[in-house]
Amino acid sequence: MERFEEELQARAEQAEEVILAYLPPVEGRQKVICEAMGYSFRSGGKRLRPIMMREAFLLFDKEEKNVHPFMAALEMIHTYSLIHDDLPEMDNDDLRRGLPTCHVKYGQAMAVLAGDGLLNLAFETVTEALSQWENETLIRGAKAASILAKRAGYRGMIGGQVVDILAEEPGHVSDEEELTFIHANKTSALLQAALTIGGVMGGANEEQVEKLSHIGYLVGLAFQIRDDILDVTGSQEELGKPIGSDERNEKSTYVSLVGLEAAGEKVRSLSKQAMEELEQLPGDKTFLQALFAYLIERRK
Ligand code: IPE
Ligand code: IPE
Ligand code: MG
Ligand code: MG
Ligand code: MG
Repeated sequence: MERFEEELQARAEQAEEVILAYLPPVEGRQKVICEAMGYSFRSGGKRLRPIMMREAFLLFDKEEKNVHPFMAALEMIHTYSLIHDDLPEMDNDDLRRGLPTCHVKYGQAMAVLAGDGLLNLAFETVTEALSQWENETLIRGAKAASILAKRAGYRGMIGGQVVDILAEEPGHVSDEEELTFIHANKTSALLQAALTIGGVMGGANEEQVEKLSHIGYLVGLAFQIRDDILDVTGSQEELGKPIGSDERNEKSTYVSLVGLEAAGEKVRSLSKQAMEELEQLPGDKTFLQALFAYLIERRK
């Protein structure tokens, strides 16, 4: 496990080097927005989505530079989703990635705009790359851009956040079916984007992309249930975000629905299924297998 954590740290640093290169310089009359975007984007985080995207790519191809703009774009979208998720009108949290949240540091208006800024920068990053590509790379890139837009949008991450907020209505208790909808969208969607974009850019066939999508779905459900468990049993120091946020917001979670023990069991069974499905793909899956196993018991 320790060896794996070192390996994960090395991949996070590698991903960070790739994605930070796409941040714009802090300049212009509006430079506070560049600062706010950079503040949240640079502030660490596990970088799981770009790491997973790169790994999925490497299952099919070695020449990785064409996946780099998508690694950056997805992490930009993820970071914007966190900035908005923490806003007072949403989860109202003050700490993220071990630092005051974007709205605490820059005010609510700037935090909304920093999120919007990162979302647009994501698609600027991708379309800039597309404009320089041709032939097969361009076709793959266009497909990947479409996946990114859909998974991040109202049928994906945003859709999940919408139902997550609707479910906070006083007296509303989500059933398992509703929770699965929320998790599949607010969390799985971006992990599915990570794996399928990696596959598409690497040249995976349709069946393989479908398999990657299903693995992302399973890992995302497990990841969110583990997140909800850690919201109860974790520590602010390790997580870099407050615990007890779900209870304070009266959110129905898998933990409130079935209890900690059954929730933990669900994380294990979903992850095991994801690992079995991963076996059916080509290439060196060692790291992804170890990552999925590690995420079951993650503390942050
Ligand atoms: C947090 O995602 C939001 C959820 C989907 C639970 P991560 O746990 O990947 O957050 P960072 O990127 O490491 O900060
Ligand atoms: C996050 O779910 C989903 C997003 C799309 C941001 P949470 O609200 O549980 O994430 P944390 O716990 O604040 O990171
Ligand atoms: Mg939330
Ligand atoms: Mg939250
Ligand atoms: Mg949470």
